[in-house]
Amino acid sequence: MTTESLRMPDATMWREDILILRGAMERRRLGATDIEASVLGFGGSEIGYERVSARTVARLLGGALDAGLNVVDTAECYDESETLIGRAIGARRREVYLFTKCGHPHGWGRGDWRPASLLASLERSLRRLATDRVDLIQLHSCSLAELEKGDAIAALERARERGLARYIGYSGDGEAARYAVECGRFDTLQTSVSIADQEAVDVTLPLARARRMGVIAKRPLANVAWRYARRPGSYYEDYWSRLRALDYDFLRHNGAVATALRFTLSVPGVHTAIVGTTKPERWQENAASLRAGPLSPAEFERVRARWREVADTSWVGQV
Ligand SMILES: NC(=O)c1ccc[n+]([C@@H]2O[C@H](COP(=O)([O-])OP(=O)(O)OC[C@H]3O[C@@H](n4cnc5c(N)ncnc54)[C@H](OP(=O)(O)O)[C@@H]3O)[C@@H](O)[C@H]2O)c1
Repeated sequence: MTTESLRMPDATMWREDILILRGAMERRRLGATDIEASVLGFGGSEIGYERVSARTVARLLGGALDAGLNVVDTAECYDESETLIGRAIGARRREVYLFTKCGHPHGWGRGDWRPASLLASLERSLRRLATDRVDLIQLHSCSLAELEKGDAIAALERARERGLARYIGYSGDGEAARYAVECGRFDTLQTSVSIADQEAVDVTLPLARARRMGVIAKRPLANVAWRYARRPGSYYEDYWSRLRALDYDFLRHNGAVATALRFTLSVPGVHTAIVGTTKPERWQENAASLRAGPLSPAEFERVRARWREVADTSWVGQV
């Protein structure tokens, strides 16, 4: 995939290393990799956990690829997500960068970081995704202690040497994410960045940027947790409480989701935001909202200032 083949017209504005384009999906270079990532990616957890049908996933991803998507993120433990994605992408494999993760081969919460298990998990992911190699394999939120041992990272390095993955990354938050950046062994960091999760903006992203790491924003819409009138289930609960305390003005108006997404993509160092969805029309809807480009410096600073005013030390990055 080359930049020439993208045929993106109408460059309207430069901001640091970011080329903003109107009328086409913007792409950003993922750190020092050769990946030109669509700023709006696809997060594959929901299609697995919500048991979306193969037909719907084929429609969802087919339509999104037509509209400019080229980043699809999934994991070993998102139920049938990898298989659904492999089937939906099919012959269009060359149009997409496939990212997956390893470390929970028997389901989330049952981590297995032994090198042989990580490699076996990756080989299973390749079969499920119907591909010879993924573009990125990520350690799926292992602890700082696990990272410090070094064996899990070495296993991913071996997978890269063997050609099973082009790049290696860490997906996680807090002190482990910081270690992952500072150890210098990963190509990318996937971490939570949103209006309700800004620890990384202050701590890890400046370091990742200085080291030219690719940065993938996970949970970039804070799960749209503000849509719930009552406290939702545990995965969204922290974001729901934080957003009530933050009480951003823009959440009361139309276009709140667009503003939230534009915030995440305005954070310096973020290259792509992998929004999860179960709905075929969503990706295009979110893509359309990005045509407005990044937030203005004043809008961006308002969100940051409110966070600094309200967030306390317990508001750490959420896995
Ligand atoms: N530890 C890890 O490595 C880790 C942890 C969490 C997530 N992730 C990755 O990050 C990805 C994204 O995270 P996520 O799905 O938890 O959070 P998210 O992307 O912040 O939010 C997804 C939710 O937003 C809704 N949504 C999207 N666009 C919308 C719109 N325009 N209007 C209203 N609702 C909208 C979706 O609902 P609909 O279905 O109705 O569109 C979905 O419920 C995951 O798929 C996964 O790939 C990784």
